[in-house]
Amino acid sequence: MSITDSKILITGGAGFIGSHVVRRFIKTGKYQVINLDKLTYAGNLENLRDIEKNPNYEFVKGDICDFEFIKSLFKKYDFHGVVHLAAESHVDRSITNPMEFIQTNVVGTVSLLNAAKEAWQDKKNRRFYHVSTDEVYGSLGDDGLFTETTPYDPKSPYSASKASSDHFVRAYGNTYGFPFVISNCSNNYGPNHFPEKLIPLMIHNIKNRKPLPVYGKGENVRDWLYVEDHARAIELIFEKGNDGETYNIGGFNEWKNIDLVNLLCDIMDSKLGNAKGTSRELITYVKDRAGHDLRYAIDASKLNKELGWKPSLQFEEGLEKTVDWYFENEQWLDDVTSGDYLKYYDENYSNR
Ligand code: NAD
Ligand code: DAU
Repeated sequence: MSITDSKILITGGAGFIGSHVVRRFIKTGKYQVINLDKLTYAGNLENLRDIEKNPNYEFVKGDICDFEFIKSLFKKYDFHGVVHLAAESHVDRSITNPMEFIQTNVVGTVSLLNAAKEAWQDKKNRRFYHVSTDEVYGSLGDDGLFTETTPYDPKSPYSASKASSDHFVRAYGNTYGFPFVISNCSNNYGPNHFPEKLIPLMIHNIKNRKPLPVYGKGENVRDWLYVEDHARAIELIFEKGNDGETYNIGGFNEWKNIDLVNLLCDIMDSKLGNAKGTSRELITYVKDRAGHDLRYAIDASKLNKELGWKPSLQFEEGLEKTVDWYFENEQWLDDVTSGDYLKYYDENYSNR
């Protein structure tokens, strides 16, 4: 199936990954993109300043849970495709406030599915792309990789809400013949990443000589992928993936948290002109995340074999680019770390 020259709805386009996806689709020149975003604390229109005047781009502020509003959008625009990224995305927040995750990630996704199902009576040349996470598969031990057939075993409120939304998407495919595709991706990093997540939080704290909170012993492992490589995979799967299929996306790039933080400290020291080791002194081991998944690692060979995708950047190169971006965008970082962020930061870290 191939969808080109079409009108697409991207949800959550003002967020971290969504902003890279919107930019990528706009730059092809093939799509008219409507970006629907509620602009929660994680949504930021600064992430899209460079393309906001593009004639093929339109921003709509709204909530995916507002079914009547979503239905009216489908009526107004007659979308050919949906790329659904809007979500509550931070595991720690899901531990303190699970209801918001059920509302947006589950109810919001079903609201979109329903609106698309009602609008897409013909089902021809339509596609609903659901962007999901590797966390639905649970946690790995020391060996093995998540494949597309690994049984679901979500362990946090966040991953349970994403697993539920994946199940609803597949259920709509099975029950109504609804045209969908799903991808499950590992940890992203890069520009526009909100500094509550590990890498941008550490960059922010190193810059400000604040403690670097490493959960537990720092031995948990994540598989890191540069965000533009994820956006490229999404474009490829949207255009060329097979209906009803799932594709795993990952970086082939596993790092223990503590090794990653040490590397980041060294990169930052060299950029800041510090003696090596200066930033490592800030590392502080804090109380572990409740139910902390030990290890994630993705087998992305299906995507590689079927659609020819592979990551383009080495991790060190991607981290340097990321650090440079945060140095060049100090105003962005200052803006998102003022106001409510400080309250969140104090509440989350003062009792660890
Ligand atoms: P993010 O938190 O940076 O952005 C989420 C965006 O969704 C924000 O712009 C926010 O305003 C918007 N949003 C939230 N609730 C909404 C609602 N009710 N209606 C409309 N918009 C709403 O998230 P992200 O890290 O960019 O993740 C995007 C998607 O990718 C999510 O579905 C997430 O589960 C998935 N994912 C993320 C990662 C990762 O490493 N960050 C990895 C794999 C998959
Ligand atoms: O695997 C994909 C998932 O990756 C996405 O679905 C999520 O939306 C995304 O937030 C991310 O989840 P993680 O929980 O893995 O990411 P986070 O950056 O919060 O944490 C990465 C690791 O670092 C994790 O083992 C917890 C640890 N950590 C995190 C923070 C914020 C710390 O040690 N200290 C911290 O301050």
